[in-house]
Amino acid sequence: MKEETSRTLNEALKSTFFISDYQEDYKKINYHEEEHFIETINCFLNLGYTSDEINAIYTFLNVENREKLVTLPKLDLKAYYTIPNFEVDKIERYEAFQKKNNLSLNEAVLKVNIGLDYDFYSVITEIEHPESYVVLVNKYRFLGQYEPTDLVSLSYDAKYQLREKARDAFENLVSEALIENVFLRPYSAYRSFDYQNSLYNTYVNRDGKEEADSYSARPGHSEHQTGLAVDVWSRDYNYITEEDAKWLRENSYKYGFIVRYTKENRAITGYIEEPWHLRYVGEDVAIALHEQGITFDEYYDLYLK
Ligand code: DAL
Ligand code: ZN
Repeated sequence: MKEETSRTLNEALKSTFFISDYQEDYKKINYHEEEHFIETINCFLNLGYTSDEINAIYTFLNVENREKLVTLPKLDLKAYYTIPNFEVDKIERYEAFQKKNNLSLNEAVLKVNIGLDYDFYSVITEIEHPESYVVLVNKYRFLGQYEPTDLVSLSYDAKYQLREKARDAFENLVSEALIENVFLRPYSAYRSFDYQNSLYNTYVNRDGKEEADSYSARPGHSEHQTGLAVDVWSRDYNYITEEDAKWLRENSYKYGFIVRYTKENRAITGYIEEPWHLRYVGEDVAIALHEQGITFDEYYDLYLK
């Protein structure tokens, strides 16, 4: 430790950014091998952070947070050090949401990061990597006109398409389900932006916007547009049975799928329960989600973003 701190003073003395008023602080700040380190700690010192706070900033904050932090007025971050997914520029929102809903700070951070302190569809981010197998699509995240490039037909019926990996996993799931006497058939898979648009508008005309929003995604916001989601029917192309839905809840993760919209997660997803809607996320993430029992939206914020 001692070596690292005296290194900070030495590096400051060698640089053109040495500020003599901060000589005592340099001695207490652990050195970090990164570009512009002395300039950056000068910024923190100018903002009024103490050497202890600066050491904590380098221990607990990732580089994105540190870069944002130098642009903001001084913040008291103590409560956040152990929260891995907090973002320094959202602190006011976390605190307002925590107070309003009487939540723990961890919960408030997670919910605000998803966007839940704003109404659905009121603040929208364009998705940067729509081709990712773990892309998060929801009422705050927009796919634009994205079209997957590796769509393939399902063997049951060529009009249904998924991305290749999802198709293989799905066909595996369907075959294994059959061995356990669970008979599944797809009735909707990939849907283009335009198709989702016409579908959504049909529902709005039939049921009104509020109700349509509870069960249909707006164009650009449907997982079906990623080519990674498929809706299934039970035997004889009937609405999924309780028994088959239970099998899916208990087994689909083994094939890399999750049942994306459940009764329990409605407040987060904004959709009513859809026991028939499977989303491919790959086996690792599906297993982790099954074990942790959290929504994909939460998992994405904690581990994937
Ligand atoms: N029914 C689901 C939410 C969709 O439209 O993608
Ligand atoms: Zn669906």
